[in-house]
Amino acid sequence: MTFAPLSPRLGDRSLFPDLEARAYLAHAAISPPSLVARRAVIGLLGDYARRGAGAFGATLDQRDRLRAKLGALLNARPGEVALVPNTSLGVTHVAMGFPFERGDRVLCFLTEFPANVTPWQRAAELYGLELSWIDADLARTDPGRFLEEVDAVCARGLRLAAVSAVQFQSGLRMPLRAISDRVRAVGGVLFVDAIQACGSVPIDVEADGIDALASGGHKWLMGLEGAGMLYLRSELSKSMRPHLAGWLSHQDAFSFLLNGPELLRYDRPFRADAGLVEGGAFSAVGCAALEASVDLLGSLGVGNIHRHVNAYLDALERELVDRGFHSLRGASAEQRSCILGVRPPSGDTRDAPWWSRALAARGVVTSCPDGLLRFAPHWPNDLDRELPLLIEALDDAGAER
Ligand SMILES: Cc1ncc(COP(=O)(O)O)c(C=O)c1O
Repeated sequence: MTFAPLSPRLGDRSLFPDLEARAYLAHAAISPPSLVARRAVIGLLGDYARRGAGAFGATLDQRDRLRAKLGALLNARPGEVALVPNTSLGVTHVAMGFPFERGDRVLCFLTEFPANVTPWQRAAELYGLELSWIDADLARTDPGRFLEEVDAVCARGLRLAAVSAVQFQSGLRMPLRAISDRVRAVGGVLFVDAIQACGSVPIDVEADGIDALASGGHKWLMGLEGAGMLYLRSELSKSMRPHLAGWLSHQDAFSFLLNGPELLRYDRPFRADAGLVEGGAFSAVGCAALEASVDLLGSLGVGNIHRHVNAYLDALERELVDRGFHSLRGASAEQRSCILGVRPPSGDTRDAPWWSRALAARGVVTSCPDGLLRFAPHWPNDLDRELPLLIEALDDAGAER
């Protein structure tokens, strides 16, 4: 099947012709797939429908390309990116495979999404680790004290800190480099859950001092649920324990299928790169959608997307604050992602879920995690078209009693 070429433009949602919302502001939850991603999936399904197993070779090439493209997005080196179904499994691979010793300390952060907590709690139980905690929101309310607290934990000895690049509810962009410098100074490593950043907030594993990173693909990367990535700095992947290994975790794992006989063996060494974690079959459909989406994001430029969305949020934040909402957006530009989290006006008995439902009834789709009303536009959102209807929806919902 051949399709006409599709060219994306910031603020133009014509690649989302079936989107029902008048304004869709829930990209921090799930992104709707663009026509570009949908066509890639249809193409892949057609290939499997025609050729069955014959289509598999092309999907292997696609995985190679996707790893390289995701790596380029992060400024990672070849072999440092693996495909994983979701953030949680990426975190779990690091939590289970990191060469911890009994009594090692891991730094976690309060207000984090649980995906970046549960695996560290499990690792603590299994390997006898000490968990330390710091309130991530302190990085917004008192950045100096936040770093003093990181210093204090590091002074007690630290093997690993696990933080999100962007807090899922307030949208606070964490000071990754400052955390990494402190953690590395005591011989530790920095793990980052980047699902609320990748695709809309520039991430550079070298400049940001990141040693390992996981991200699902269905939010700002605009792929589908079930396909995401794990970045492992090459020095780190060499030291990982293969606790969650599968048949594809071995070197030369395929040859017995293609070039046998006498190649079926169970003693092949494990891969020493990030591919160690790719233990079995992977979602080909998810891969197709993600590759198409990453190409599209790359053509727009993540820095341009971040600027486009922040201009949108600047205007929206002013309107919300004028109506008594409390913004949790960071004060400085470096603290800002593409999420704006607000609390309902003081004294208003209507909570964030109420506001989210009331706005949805007026065609404005938001989300309301952790008691905050969350606005999360992406590159197709157009301020000039959407701000008037957002204001109308807010005022109309506000007048409802
Ligand atoms: C910070 C953060 N991490 C992880 C997830 C999801 O994890 P997973 O990709 O494993 O479903 C979310 C939201 O769904 C999130 O906001």
